[in-house]
Amino acid sequence: MAPGILLLSALMAWAALGANAAFAENDLAAGKKVFKRCLVCHTDVEGKHKTGPTLHKVLGRPAGQAEGFRYSPAYVRAGKEGLVWSDETLFQYLRNPKKFLRGFLKDPKVKSRMTMKYFREKDRRNVIEYMKSLDE
Ligand code: HEC
Repeated sequence: MAPGILLLSALMAWAALGANAAFAENDLAAGKKVFKRCLVCHTDVEGKHKTGPTLHKVLGRPAGQAEGFRYSPAYVRAGKEGLVWSDETLFQYLRNPKKFLRGFLKDPKVKSRMTMKYFREKDRRNVIEYMKSLDE
């Protein structure tokens, strides 16, 4: 390979790496902004609840199980029926919590007191990335 091409591909690889790192930082900063809106009703502190249950280490946990929080029955039921908060389930849930739980439980009547809906896919992706970074 000609030295010029080698240099060029090295430069391209370097540029791609740099761009990725910058992108990841932007995602986290954007996710933190979205998360601030969650903190109106939630905390990220273990055992501390507001209108909503703590979100401390919620990823990987079954639904409806933060100790000391009185959930709507749908959450407890969903947790017992296998709903675990993951990238994917949280991503779908945040779009429309009530609809998601109704779908999961196959019950069109269940209710959720979390009435917020996050339609923007990017907001949901970013906030989940940010929540994961908190758990590390
Ligand atoms: C206006 C208040 C409010 C906002 C804002 C809000 N939530 Fe909630 N959230 C709640 C309430 C209340 C519940 C419990 C619902 C129930 O029991 O009916 C809940 C439940 C949850 C649960 C289920 C937790 C568990 O232990 O099963 C998750 C996950 C969650 N919210 C994530 C979020 C995220 C992420 C955001 C921000 C993007 C957010 N919420 C914004 C009020 C809110």
